[in-house]
Parts: sequence; C-alpha cells; structure tokens
Amino acid sequence: MSSTLFRTKKVEQSISDTEEPEHALKKSLSALDLTVFGVGVIIGTGIFVLTGKVAKENAGPAVSLGFVVAGIACGLAALCYAEFASTVPVAGSAYTFSYASLGELPAWIIGWDLVLEFALGTAVVAVGWAGYIRSLMDNAGWHMPANLGGRDGASGFGFDILAAALVLVLTAILVVGMKLSARVTTVVVAIKVTVVMIVIIAGAFFINGDNYKPFIPTAQPQTAGSSLQSPLVQLMFGYAPTNFGVMGIFTAASVVFFAFIGFDVVATAAEETKNPQRDMPRGILGSLVICTTLYVLVSIVVTGMQKYSELSIDAPLADAFKATGHPWYAGVISFGAAVGLTTVCLILLLGQTRVFFAMSRDGLLPRFFSVVHPKFKTPYRPTILLGVIIAILAGFTSLSALAELVNIGTLFAFVVVALGVIILRRTRPDLHRAFRTPLVPLVPILSVLASLWLMLNLPAETWVRFAIWMVIGFVIYFAYGRSHSRLGRGEKEE
Ligand code: ALA
Repeated sequence: MSSTLFRTKKVEQSISDTEEPEHALKKSLSALDLTVFGVGVIIGTGIFVLTGKVAKENAGPAVSLGFVVAGIACGLAALCYAEFASTVPVAGSAYTFSYASLGELPAWIIGWDLVLEFALGTAVVAVGWAGYIRSLMDNAGWHMPANLGGRDGASGFGFDILAAALVLVLTAILVVGMKLSARVTTVVVAIKVTVVMIVIIAGAFFINGDNYKPFIPTAQPQTAGSSLQSPLVQLMFGYAPTNFGVMGIFTAASVVFFAFIGFDVVATAAEETKNPQRDMPRGILGSLVICTTLYVLVSIVVTGMQKYSELSIDAPLADAFKATGHPWYAGVISFGAAVGLTTVCLILLLGQTRVFFAMSRDGLLPRFFSVVHPKFKTPYRPTILLGVIIAILAGFTSLSALAELVNIGTLFAFVVVALGVIILRRTRPDLHRAFRTPLVPLVPILSVLASLWLMLNLPAETWVRFAIWMVIGFVIYFAYGRSHSRLGRGEKEE
C-alpha cells in the first residue's frame, strides 16, 4: 500500500505528457513575460492593504522588518522553486515537483493545498480590489447599495457584486488565451509599479522622524479574546500572547507573507514558457528581488509619514497622503491600486486553473477537465468551473481571516518543495538542472525551518481551518484519485 501512495511520476513522463496534442498548452512566454507575471501577482493586497493593519496591530514601524523576515523566507523558498521549475518544466508548480520526487500522495496533498492558496487568494484580492473601486466611486459621488458592497458593509444579506464581476471577466480573458492576458498584464503592471514608486519617492518628502519613535513598540498583552486567535507558537510555549515587541515582528512577517505570494505562481506557467530551463529561474528570482526591495521601502516611508497607530486599515498607502494633506496623490494611488489588483487576481486565477489542469491530466481529478480548447489551447473547462466558484466565494467572503489561511497553505507548499529538492538530488542525480539551488542541503533545510517558523506564528484557528481542508483532501484522494490515477493504471493514452 505504501508503495502505491508514494509512487512517483518519472520526470521524463511529466514532460512527455505535455507533448500530447490534446493536452498541450501553447508555449509563448519569455523570461520578461514571466518577470512581469511575477511582479504582476506579487504586488497586491499585501502591500496595499495589509501593511497598515499589521503596523497598527502587530509591529508598528518595525513592519518593515517583518517584510525583511518574510522576504528572506521567500528568497530561500525561491532558490528551491527555481531548481524544481527548471528541472520539471510542466504545468502545476509544487504539485508536479512533488509528484516527481516525493510520490503521489504528497503530490495530491500539495495540489489540494495549492487549490486553497490560489482560489482563496483570488477571492481575497478581488474583495480588496472592490474596496478600492468603491472608494474611488465614493470620491466621484456614486454610492453602491450597501448589500451589494460585500459582507462587511451589509446587515443581513451582503454580496460583493464588484468582486464577483471582476472574477468572471478575468475568467473570460483566461479562456481566450495566455497571450492576451500577458499583454494586458504588462500594461497594468507598469501602472502598478509607477504608483508604488510614487509612494516611495513622493512620500519620502513627507516623513516625520518622530513617527519612528519607538521603531519597535514595547510588547503589549493581547486584548482578551479566543485563545484560538493567538499565534500557535505563543500558545505552544505557554506565553501570554502579546502584540508588538520582537515577537510582533514575526507575527507581522507571517501575515505580510501574503504580499510575497505569487513568485511561486511563475513556476506554474513553466509549460507555457519558451525556454523554461533558462527563463524560469530568471523570472522567479527577478520578480522576488524587485518586490522585496519595493516593500521594505514602502513600509519605511508609510510608517514615517503617519504614526503607526493612526494608519488606516482599508487604504493605508493612500490615506497616509491624505493625512499629510496631499489628497491628489491619494486619488492617484487608489486608482493605481485598483488597476494593479486586477492583475494579481488574474494571475492567481491562472495558477489555480493550471494546477487543477495538471491534477486532472494525471487522473487524480476527472480527466474531463484536462482537455484543452481546440482553438484557444487553454484548459477552458477548469477555468470556467473554478472561475464561477471563486466569483461566488469572492461575493460572499470578507477579507481578513482568509489571507492567513492562504498563507499557511502556501508555506506548507514551500516546505514540501524544499524537501523535494533534497530528495530529487538523491533519487535522480542524473537529471539536467538548468538552475541548481546553492548549498544543498543547507539552503533547503533553512527554507523548511523559515517556512515552519512563519507557520507557527499564524493563529491557532488558522491551523484548525487548514487541518479541516486537508482532511477533505484525503477523503477525495482515497475515494477517487487513488483508483483513477493515470500513473496507477499504467496508462499512456485514454
Ligand atoms: N502577493 C499578492 C498580494 O499581495 C497575492 O495581493
């Protein structure tokens, strides 16, 4: 039994599967497209929305150190991702990598976990986008009925019609094809990066040094509430849970980690890349370095412009400019944020459909979903199915708790990928690796430890929700995937 659960898919087989005509995706992306994709999905709700909340509640100006901590953890993971993506250049990201190294059950677990990351991530970002659009509409004097403005603003029935509509429009773009979405993405990413640069450069002139005192506020006991809301690590070691102080930096890191999600999505487009061996590592590492630098600068500037305790939770970047008497900048930033969040949503949705597609092609989910569109060459069936589900989810979901659930799922995937690098080096030392992770096994082990540490700093209730999701995954695997697995059946063609 354990041999079937840990059967691995040969790397060569993963690659040759992608060459079957009816299951083949178009190869059209370059390293630049991938970097643009990366930056397009990485900079989003994390920096535009979560920075304010985390500075205010967990870390003060030291939120910038939280970004550094999260960035280091992601950098280590990126070095592992880059090796895998350049060795196993097929759709499906960590799912495919672990199928080739750890075996079918771990691969299923990861795939299932990535579905959580991307689907909920898309929903979270769509809700954040809708908030910025409503704020722009309010400026123009147009007001949405409260019960169509999302759950948070409504009493009784609440549906975020803008968030749901965004997801449906993006679904249609993805069905029509990669190339179109990559072009749209390039323009939008340029607008987003410009706005972030405006925050950094213009904001630097409005910094008041007093706002940095204290840079790391002293630790304060958490306000009474369910202990399930405390970071697991503090409960495990019997601390009275606190905010701020040094531990607050790690709490902040585990939340703003959301801001980095996306560089792993670049790896999901490996199969659609012209030269994955060379371009994947460039795309992944390049986009991560750019974003980490921008985040640290933005968080230093924003906490210098306004006292951390006064930062706004909904639109901290724009509101810091309002607070310093520059509403014109605030309008431009809100506009750029709304435009920028569109690409984040688009690329998360893309990653989501590609993982689902790869799992279906392997028979772990019904193969109905892995037939590509005859004309557009896109996996249109999972794209449409998941697009509709996510639109409904985005309509009915409020933002905050979900981001943490997305983080734990992603960090878990990082742990598996890092272990996979070590294992595949031993089991398949012969494989050509266009990019090799340096200092194996040290770097992968550090990556595992860093990811676990961030996971432990997430609230206990996030762990409970994550466990429930994984139990559902196990049930599906043993009821369907295990017996339908293409690898298990030894099939080559249906
Ligand atoms: N990193 C992306 C964001 O911050 C998911 O929105």
